[in-house]
Amino acid sequence: MSEIATQRLQADPEGLARGAEILRSGGLLAFPTETVYGLGGDACNDRAVARIYEAKGRPSFNPLIVHLADLDAVKALVIWSDLAEAAATAFWPGPLTMVLPLREGAPVSKLVTAGLDSLAVRMPANPVARALLTEFGGPVAAPSANRSGRISPTRAEHVLDTLDGRIEGVLDGGRCDVGLESTILGLAGKPTLLRPGRIGIETLSEVLGRPVMERKDREQISAPGQLSSHYAPRARVRLNAADWQEGEARLGFGRTEGDCDLNLSPSGDLVEAAANLFEYLHRLDADGAATIAVMPVPHVGLGIAINDRLSRAAAPRD
Ligand code: TXA
Ligand code: MG
Repeated sequence: MSEIATQRLQADPEGLARGAEILRSGGLLAFPTETVYGLGGDACNDRAVARIYEAKGRPSFNPLIVHLADLDAVKALVIWSDLAEAAATAFWPGPLTMVLPLREGAPVSKLVTAGLDSLAVRMPANPVARALLTEFGGPVAAPSANRSGRISPTRAEHVLDTLDGRIEGVLDGGRCDVGLESTILGLAGKPTLLRPGRIGIETLSEVLGRPVMERKDREQISAPGQLSSHYAPRARVRLNAADWQEGEARLGFGRTEGDCDLNLSPSGDLVEAAANLFEYLHRLDADGAATIAVMPVPHVGLGIAINDRLSRAAAPRD
């Protein structure tokens, strides 16, 4: 990947305006929250979200947290509930993320949710984060702003240590207070603690007025297509298709000899392919084919995450 000149922006009106402009143009901007620095991109822009994964060098597509400045904006994206209201009243803005059912027609990229029908939302308390989100005026997807496998950044310099030259900008807001990622509360089903954080399970249970379950974690990795936290198409998936068979839905990549139904990237661009991946799997699945055949995707860069997801989708199911 070619180097980008990463702009260092101060948390003043000029820096905030420039930061919002970077997000609007589909660029990547690291910004401070009270937990850790986030690597932000426009959550409604498939390509911006694909670039988040590319910049992090993540070998897989985990769903991302979407950051918003106000409650009305949150409610436009997810199905709200009394429990969500109780948690929001107690902890927002603050270091709590809630996973809620995705509202139908919500404009967020399918790559943000990794194809799931739930969405992780968070309203940060950090004033620089809030000012940026207000200035930008839309949902911002942001995992921690570090290369995959490195420690989470709590200063702008930490961000630059691993992402300099890979992102358009970093908004310097000094040090993060909490230094640990937000607590994640699952409210798409029974209240479940999906990730521990500063806000503990007892406090959450008290506020919700009912017990919050611990996640029975890392179970059933042997049947990855079945994991409830992973999207898998209904159709069977056939990988590395060298030719098409009768009746299959055909998902192409790069230049193709014959026809395909959809092409992840006719020019063979992996960022474009990642941006289209979940959207196209959903579309072909909705057409009702028994099998989706997928042409080979090169196993480099973002192709590793794409292939990880495709092989989960193709894994045998019970
Ligand atoms: O403190 C934080 O939360 C930081 C700052 C930047 O806000 N962000 C952060 O984001 O840690 P990220 O993308 O690294 O965390 C995503 C976590 C993943 O572990 C993922 O599994 C979970 O949130 N998650 C996101 N969407 C989910 C969903 N729909 N269902 C279940 N888990 C979800
Ligand atoms: Mg992280």
